[in-house]
Amino acid sequence: MNVLVLVGSLRAGSTNRLLADAAVAHLPAGVDATVFERLAELPHYSEELDHDDVLPQVARDLREAVADADAVLLVTPEYNGSLPSAVKNAVDWASRPRGAASIAGKPAAVVGASGSPNAAKWAREDGVKVLRVAGAVVIEDTFGIGSSFQAFEDGRLTDAALDAELRTLVARLAGEVTTASSAA
Ligand SMILES: Cc1cc2nc3c(=O)[nH]c(=O)nc-3n(C[C@H](O)[C@H](O)[C@H](O)COP(=O)(O)O)c2cc1C
Repeated sequence: MNVLVLVGSLRAGSTNRLLADAAVAHLPAGVDATVFERLAELPHYSEELDHDDVLPQVARDLREAVADADAVLLVTPEYNGSLPSAVKNAVDWASRPRGAASIAGKPAAVVGASGSPNAAKWAREDGVKVLRVAGAVVIEDTFGIGSSFQAFEDGRLTDAALDAELRTLVARLAGEVTTASSAA
């Protein structure tokens, strides 16, 4: 089983990347994770580009990565009260072609970290919404880290209660994977 991780911050030293690593560390044995490392290369979605003969290779690769994954974990900062465009753009690409979208029916969960105490709440809410509209089967509960620049030490969440909360959500996502694959 494989979880595809989409990290909405493109910068080196991202606290969301640390959060992604912390989440992946909680995946049960037998569930692997792959971070899609090329969100920065994705062109802005355009229906003109969305034809077999001109489809950018990176968009094709993203769709394949989503299709091959058993679940998607979206890890997002909050930019101006919502998702960063990199995340929304990736979901837009994965939501097409209509009727054959790779994201359709995919179990998904959303976590986020922000520098403010808001813990990327609005971005997480929007992440759940856009994934649901795109056709994913999204866990409504999300996990957030506020004041994220102080939240990690040696790559780990310092607050044990928060780390346990993260573990619970990740276990739920893995449970959705198991449920979805046993129903298939
Ligand atoms: C363009 C931009 C907009 C931002 N808007 C918000 C915001 O609305 N709410 C918030 O809590 N933080 C906001 N921030 C601060 C981010 O939470 C902070 O940069 C965070 O560390 C980004 O995650 P990263 O460490 O993974 O890069 C914004 C940052 C940028 C660059």
